[in-house]
Amino acid sequence: MRFRLVLLCALCAAISLPRIATGAKILAVYAFPGKSHYMMHTALIRALIERGHEVTMVAAFSLESQKLGSNYKEILIEPVYDIWKAVELDTGMQHMFELTRMRNHDFLRMLNLIGSKTTEHALRQPKVQALINANQTEGVFDLLLAEQFYQEPFLALAYKYNIPIVTTSTLGYENHMSQMMGLITPWSFVPHGFMPFTDRMSFVQRLQNSYESLYEDLDRLFNYFPQMDALTQQYFGAALAVVPAVQQMEQQISVMLLNSHAPLTTTRPTVDAMVPVGGMHIYPPKKLPQDIQSFLDSAHAGAIYFSLGSNMQSKDMPKSMLRLFLTVFASLPQRVLWKYEDESIEQLPANVMIRKWLPQSDILAHANVKVFITHGGLFGTQEGVHYAVPMLGIPFYCDQHLNMNKAVLGGYAISLHFQSITESLLRESLQQLIYNSSYRQQIQRVSDIFRDRPLPARESAIYWIEYVIRHKGAPHMRSAGLDLSWYQFYLLDVIGFVAAVVVALLLLLRRLLRLLLSKQQQKVKSH
Ligand SMILES: *[C@@H]1O[C@H](CO)[C@@H](O)[C@H](O)[C@H]1NC(C)=O
Ligand SMILES: *[C@@H]1O[C@H](CO)[C@@H](O)[C@H](O)[C@H]1NC(C)=O
Repeated sequence: MRFRLVLLCALCAAISLPRIATGAKILAVYAFPGKSHYMMHTALIRALIERGHEVTMVAAFSLESQKLGSNYKEILIEPVYDIWKAVELDTGMQHMFELTRMRNHDFLRMLNLIGSKTTEHALRQPKVQALINANQTEGVFDLLLAEQFYQEPFLALAYKYNIPIVTTSTLGYENHMSQMMGLITPWSFVPHGFMPFTDRMSFVQRLQNSYESLYEDLDRLFNYFPQMDALTQQYFGAALAVVPAVQQMEQQISVMLLNSHAPLTTTRPTVDAMVPVGGMHIYPPKKLPQDIQSFLDSAHAGAIYFSLGSNMQSKDMPKSMLRLFLTVFASLPQRVLWKYEDESIEQLPANVMIRKWLPQSDILAHANVKVFITHGGLFGTQEGVHYAVPMLGIPFYCDQHLNMNKAVLGGYAISLHFQSITESLLRESLQQLIYNSSYRQQIQRVSDIFRDRPLPARESAIYWIEYVIRHKGAPHMRSAGLDLSWYQFYLLDVIGFVAAVVVALLLLLRRLLRLLLSKQQQKVKSH
């Protein structure tokens, strides 16, 4: 009897569990050749393979070194598109250190350019063409994973294979995402991702923020989308009976995974389909190489870790700046570990160690690391916060200013403008970060909040991907605002109607008053 009861309970439990979506066939398209973007993609693909899914990936960089096994198939884009060559040709810039001088609109124009060039480079590949023009499409894939970053024509693959879409945004939230999700982004307190603002803006900043956000929205509508629509038409014209517009495809995204998380984001309107999974690329610390381990272990006064990320190369910085950094480092009792992409530096001070590549996350986890000198990219900032290391930010472009402003406001970073750095400014900033305990206390607090979540980042991403597979899309989470015309969406028809009623009533009232007055006057006259 008791045994049967147990069996019954087990059966009930099994039935009430969600159907597990393992063994799904996922098509991932990560064609944008951004090294930092691949930190998120690699973590996600690894996690999917570990869950027993099959992944076919259109890849800008090979994941061969990850040893993902036979469930992983790669359609490698060859050769790797050289983004900075294209930028150099377009802008005449000599190296990326000049990006701080670039205006926001030029930066947007550059992103549009890089986006369409990299997308077309990938679409042209014979192996990608075979995917687009395949005859067999039913049941081949269960889900399209795509990047939410200037690669929109690939969304048409979801129409080709009749599968739902999950996108990943390595930059986190962006203001123009409201149009895909049927939301309104209030420009009054949500700063544009490329502006050096925070969520508390002065009148002039709000004016500028509204201008930049509107400019981007209109630019997408009238300049960027037509370019991408033309690409989609050109490469999917033969494969699809009706080629959908980019704007229409974006509104069919089931779930968007965002590389951000509180408290590193601006609190803003959102929908259930926008899922924050910031910090997905961070794993428990691994053992350091022996030379680095002993260099840090014996840094009795602490150590400084210095890296400008995977795009900016420290070796390209102007000679005068290089000497300035070395002079300041030599005058400090701390040791400095620097990601520097050359074999050697002349007259390298004894307390400075350079390496072309360094395991950043594992280094930041070392107890002796007291300061992280960073360009303020999102991935590095998250690692610094995760391991509670106060930061000296030197932001250059894109969201780096925003990330660093947030960190300064949070009291755990000092931010410097690259071209204005002087010896005394650098030395004093480093000393503040090392000896003034308020920075460490603040980043410890922020770190505790960043790590406190219902599900760890990778598990959350897997959960939502499997959710979309289980339910074959998520139309129940789609905002009905997407199906309204713009004047209905902004309630202009309702506001117009109410205004008309009020005006009509006022006119009526005036009429009545006039009528009454004239009657009164007639009475007075007739007496
Ligand atoms: C698809 O089918 C058509 C007609 O049967 C054939 O000409 C074409 O080569 C096939 N394409 C592929 C990629 O197999
Ligand atoms: C320590 O840093 C905090 C925050 O920047 C600042 O308000 C305070 O004056 C600093 N203390 C000293 C002794 O410099």
